[in-house]
Amino acid sequence: MTRLSVNINKVALIRNSRGANYPNLVQVAKDCETYGALGITIHPRPDQRHARYEDVSALKSVVKTELNIEGNPIPKFLKIVQQSKPDQCTLVPDAPTALTSDAGWDTIMHKKFLIDVIGPLKEAGIRTSIFIDPVEKMIEGAKEVGADRIEFYTGPYAHQFSKARKKAVDPFIRSAKLAHSLGLGINAGHDLNLKNLAYFLKNVPYVQEVSIGHALITDALYMGLEQSITQYLKQCNVEK
Ligand code: PXP
Repeated sequence: MTRLSVNINKVALIRNSRGANYPNLVQVAKDCETYGALGITIHPRPDQRHARYEDVSALKSVVKTELNIEGNPIPKFLKIVQQSKPDQCTLVPDAPTALTSDAGWDTIMHKKFLIDVIGPLKEAGIRTSIFIDPVEKMIEGAKEVGADRIEFYTGPYAHQFSKARKKAVDPFIRSAKLAHSLGLGINAGHDLNLKNLAYFLKNVPYVQEVSIGHALITDALYMGLEQSITQYLKQCNVEK
């Protein structure tokens, strides 16, 4: 079984487009949990175009499963994470202007920076995961900087899925085996959807959590949020 953490950034994007608190992010998080999600993720970016920094503490007080806060560890992000103490913090090297996350950390080039950021998070009791490409050297580097988990950047897998799924999944299989042997936990996310998720989870071992936003919320436009979450849970082998 793999835990499904629902990324509700897209809900925040709709809320922000009209200025009022509608849809209400906190209520949506509670509903996702009622419908079976085993985690809630938000990714506040510096321009706060979807989730905002203030959403972190609001969600912390209601989420009963696991709250995962992702983002680039700029000082403002780290301050909010340290104050709110989510269950998990996922560090992502996305540029402030990036449309969405599009690469994992270079754990060799940023070794000192990551050690300095991860140490205090772990001391505060926050499980720390780092976003990473399926490259063996980068995974060894993730171990050296003290991460508890890695989150595989699955965008390239998703983009190649329809044409060459076996080739696309192979680096993740090798990397997952290495990460597991080093004692790292494994998460995965980005561009996962109802077409490509089951194949990924069937082939890549040890995946503890997937965080999914864009496709799940898009599917909810057609099926409703409860049905969309139910369909993703089935792919994660979670019985409701
Ligand atoms: N993981 C990270 C680090 C992300 O930045 C995102 C998108 O915010 C996701 C997972 C989820 O990706 P998607 O919205 O494509 O499901």
